[in-house]
Amino acid sequence: MILVTGGAGFIGANFVLDWLALHDEPVINLDKLTYAGNPETLQSLQGNPLHTLVQGDIGDVALVSQLLKTHQPRAVINFAAESHVDRSIHGPGEFIQTNIVGTFNLLESVRSYWQSLPDEPAKQAASSGATATSAMPTSAMPGKLTKASFRFLHVSTDEVYGSLAKDDPAFTERNHIEPNSPYSASKAASDHLVRAWHHTYGLPVLTTNCSNNYGPYHFPEKLIPLLIVNALAGKPLPVYGDGQQIRDWLFVKDHCSAIRRVLEAGRLGETYNVGGWNEKANLDIVHTVCALLDELRPRTDGKPYQDQITFVTDRPGHDRRYAIDARKLESELGWRPTETFETGIRKTVQWYLDNPEWVAHVQSGAYRDWVQKQYT
Ligand code: NAD
Ligand code: DAU
Repeated sequence: MILVTGGAGFIGANFVLDWLALHDEPVINLDKLTYAGNPETLQSLQGNPLHTLVQGDIGDVALVSQLLKTHQPRAVINFAAESHVDRSIHGPGEFIQTNIVGTFNLLESVRSYWQSLPDEPAKQAASSGATATSAMPTSAMPGKLTKASFRFLHVSTDEVYGSLAKDDPAFTERNHIEPNSPYSASKAASDHLVRAWHHTYGLPVLTTNCSNNYGPYHFPEKLIPLLIVNALAGKPLPVYGDGQQIRDWLFVKDHCSAIRRVLEAGRLGETYNVGGWNEKANLDIVHTVCALLDELRPRTDGKPYQDQITFVTDRPGHDRRYAIDARKLESELGWRPTETFETGIRKTVQWYLDNPEWVAHVQSGAYRDWVQKQYT
C-alpha cells in the first residue's frame, strides 16, 4: 500500500495511472480536489479495488493520521501543492497554506505514524515461510513494514534554485536555494521542512526537484496545454515578454518513472534533480506546438497557427532560465528519460486532439460538477 497526495492533479494522476498499470500494490489517493484536481482524469480507475480516492487536505492531521493508521502504507508520496506561478503572484496565501503549513502538518502526521512502526521486521513474516530475495526491496514485502523500510518522498521543483544566466551551468543538487516567486519560495520552504524532519527526527525522506513537465491531463492554464487549447479555439497564444525565457522540459511519464526509481533505490535524506536535457526558449515551444497543429489539425482558413501568437506583458519577477543537471539520478540510480522533446510533444498534442471531452469539461467547469456529485 502507498499513499499518494495530490493524485488527482496533473503529475500525481499520471503517477497513479502508471503505478496501477505496473503494480498490484494498492494506492490511497488523498486530494483536496481544488480547481486543479480532476477526478475525470482517474475515470478509468472507477471500480478498481486497488485505488481509493479520498477528498481531503494534507493539512488535516486527524484525517491523514486516520488514513495512515487504517491503511498502513509503506510509503507516502507528496505531490499535493498549489503549483501555478501566476496564481502565486496574484494570491500567495493558498501557496503558504498548502505548500508550507500543509506540508508541515503532513510531516507531523507521518512522523507520528512512522514512530509507531516496529524497528525490526515483524517476527511472524520470518516464520511464515516467505523467502526474502535481495531483488525484492524489504519495503515491497507485505508484513515487513518497519521504521527502516518506510519512505516519505517529497515531489519538488527546479524553481527552488532560482534563475540562471545564459552561460551558467545547469542546476545541480549542490546549488544554492534562491527561489524568486511566491510559488517557488513556498516549495523551497517545504523542501527545507522535509530535510529538517530527516536530520532532526530521522524520518526516512527523499526529495526530487524536477523541471517543467508536459503531457496528458495537464491543466490548460500552463503554457503547453494553454497553447494547444487556445490555438484550436482560434484565441491568442500569449507569450510573456520577449519569449526568450528558457525552461527544461520533461515528459510527465518520465518524471513518474524517476519518482518510482528514487522511491525504490534513492539514498535517504538525499535530493535528486530530475530533468530531460531539453532546454528550450518559450517562443521555440510556441512555434513547435503551432507547427504540429498545422500538420495534425490545420486551420480551416489555411493560415498558420503562429498568426495567433500575441506578445503580452511579462510575468513579474519572471525567471530567465532553468536548466537541470540530472547526472546524479542517472549515474546513481540508472534512470533515463524515454521520450525526447520531439516525441513527447507530438504525443502531447495528439492527446489533446484525441481528448476534446476532457478539455471541454475543464473549460466549461463541468469537471467540478462531477466532483460535487461523487465526492461531497
Ligand atoms: P497540479 O496543480 O496539477 O495538482 C496539484 C494537486 O494537488 C491537485 O489535484 C490538487 O487538488 C491537490 N491539492 C492542492 N492542495 C491540496 C491540499 N491542501 N491537500 C491535498 N491535495 C491538494 O500540480 P502538478 O503540476 O501535478 O504538480 C504536482 C507536484 O509536482 C507539485 O508539488 C509541484 O510543485 C511539483 N512539480 C510540478 C512540475 C510541473 O511542471 N507541473 C514540475 C516539478 C515539480
Ligand atoms: O520548472 C518547474 C515548474 O514548471 C513547476 O514547479 C510548476 O509547478 C509548473 O507550473 C511550471 O512552472 P512555469 O512557470 O515554468 O510554467 P508555466 O507553464 O506557467 O510557464 C512556462 C513558461 O511559459 C514560463 O516562462 C512562463 C511562460 N508563459 C506561460 C504562460 C501560462 C507564457 O509565455 N505565456 C503563458 O500564457
